[in-house]
Amino acid sequence: MDGGVVVGSSGSRDYPGKMTFYVFFACLIAATGGLIFGYDVGISGGVTSMDSFLEKFFPAVHRKELDTVSTNQYCKFDSQLLTAFTSSLYLAALVSSLFASTMTRKLGRKWSMFSGGVTFVVGATLNGSAVNVAMLILGRLLLGIGVGFTSQSVPLYLSEMAPARLRGMLNIVFQLMITIGIFVANVINYGTEKIKGGWGWRVSLALAAVPGAIIAIGALTLPDTPNSLIERGHDEEAKAMLRKIRGTTDIEAEFEDLVVASNQSKAVKHPFANIRMRKYRPQLTMAILLPFFQQLTGINVVMFYAPVLFKTIGFGSSASLMSSLITGLINVIATFVSIFTVDKLGRRKLLLEGGIQMFLGQIVLGILIAIKFGTSGVADVSKTYAIFVVAFICVFVTGFAWSWGPMGWLVPSEIFPLEIRSAGQSISVSMNMLLTFTIAQVFLAMLCHMKFGLFFFFAAWMFIMTMFVYFFLPETKNVPIEEMILVWKKHWFWGNFIVDEDIHNGDVENGRPSNIVHLCSQEHVSAVDIRSHAVKKKMATEAGPS
Ligand code: BGC
Repeated sequence: MDGGVVVGSSGSRDYPGKMTFYVFFACLIAATGGLIFGYDVGISGGVTSMDSFLEKFFPAVHRKELDTVSTNQYCKFDSQLLTAFTSSLYLAALVSSLFASTMTRKLGRKWSMFSGGVTFVVGATLNGSAVNVAMLILGRLLLGIGVGFTSQSVPLYLSEMAPARLRGMLNIVFQLMITIGIFVANVINYGTEKIKGGWGWRVSLALAAVPGAIIAIGALTLPDTPNSLIERGHDEEAKAMLRKIRGTTDIEAEFEDLVVASNQSKAVKHPFANIRMRKYRPQLTMAILLPFFQQLTGINVVMFYAPVLFKTIGFGSSASLMSSLITGLINVIATFVSIFTVDKLGRRKLLLEGGIQMFLGQIVLGILIAIKFGTSGVADVSKTYAIFVVAFICVFVTGFAWSWGPMGWLVPSEIFPLEIRSAGQSISVSMNMLLTFTIAQVFLAMLCHMKFGLFFFFAAWMFIMTMFVYFFLPETKNVPIEEMILVWKKHWFWGNFIVDEDIHNGDVENGRPSNIVHLCSQEHVSAVDIRSHAVKKKMATEAGPS
């Protein structure tokens, strides 16, 4: 994160070491956990727009759909049962991500990933062979448990394995895998929709077993993180692992810090109760609001329902799936922008730019739909007009892909002090799932009632969240994770919640003075101060004892 300056929980050390191939591949394998999440997001929209699928499981929706332009286009897909199919997964993911934290802590991160993968494979099998709605929904609940377990453990695993200065970039690989999963699902739907005989949807649903198997088998090959090994009392193995992943034998400083960190977090018996303390208010607010806002961009309306939406504006089945293919590919490509810029431009700039871009995209989309469909929802849309709609959906999706998409996962994962980090992460993941569930569940009904106003509804949220970022979200790029409290302390608003005594770290409690306390007692602490503080420490270490 900080050009090689990595400060551990002691607040006074740099860790030697580099990014090894070993750690690179371990992170790459773990990040494939994002594939199952993405595959699922991408597959359900396509499947629910396939005639043969609707005919078999949701005949009433199918009949309504056949009623073409004479029926109100806004309402033809509104079915509680159909939305339950899509959204049930996120309810299961919400609950299971809370349970996953126990397995992740007690047995190690890899076993949560493994269990997630296996459950996902079983869910995919059930879905692919479904003969009734009950089997479909049961399958989706199992897929949801898989998503919950992997989303809880993978980001944690990545943060613990990655060298601190590459944490941001490696964290976004998880988001990249989500987008790849969505895109692959779009491609598969495009192919299976063409299968004669009406069983294409079975192939789409059953193929979810592939990403499930990738993460399950991959997890078996993964080493445990040093943090997890220490937490479970395997100190010697943890040292050996540190030497291997950092590519150096000089790991004592980091090892000691991990032991301090582990003791410290063991001392906090009830992290979920502790997180409610006043001093954690800034982080708790972000843990709740960032995933909340991420979902209120309306991104999953596009991701789940793009084919349905495109059909609504008059595209044929195949053209609808083709258009979601385009948005899916753009989503993947634009994610690379954030991978390469997040540690240079910073989180705020990307969020502000992306927010404005998405706001404009939603407004134009709302106007385009309003002009054609008005409030009656009846229209005949020309090809050119439809292409305009797709283009503005792309403007919206790229904005998301380099702002709220990755940042919605990255920022919550880097702002918590160690003692509440895992509780904070769980809250953030379940909040994300809760909102994903809610949007998936109510979107089609909202479209039916709010009509084109729905786009303005999301635009209004974009405005609110962009203002929120501008005023309330401090920049966290290049700030060593254990010094993050300084960022809150110097913030015009959040600073009020943190008193000087709250600014401490492991070593203060162990009787060693901390530079952080000293630094914060100065009146004006800027990001530059924080950075130069870290740089000075590095120089002092390199110069040796004076
Ligand atoms: C969100 C998902 C969304 C995906 C789209 C993720 O960051 O959490 O809900 O479907 O991005 O790329």
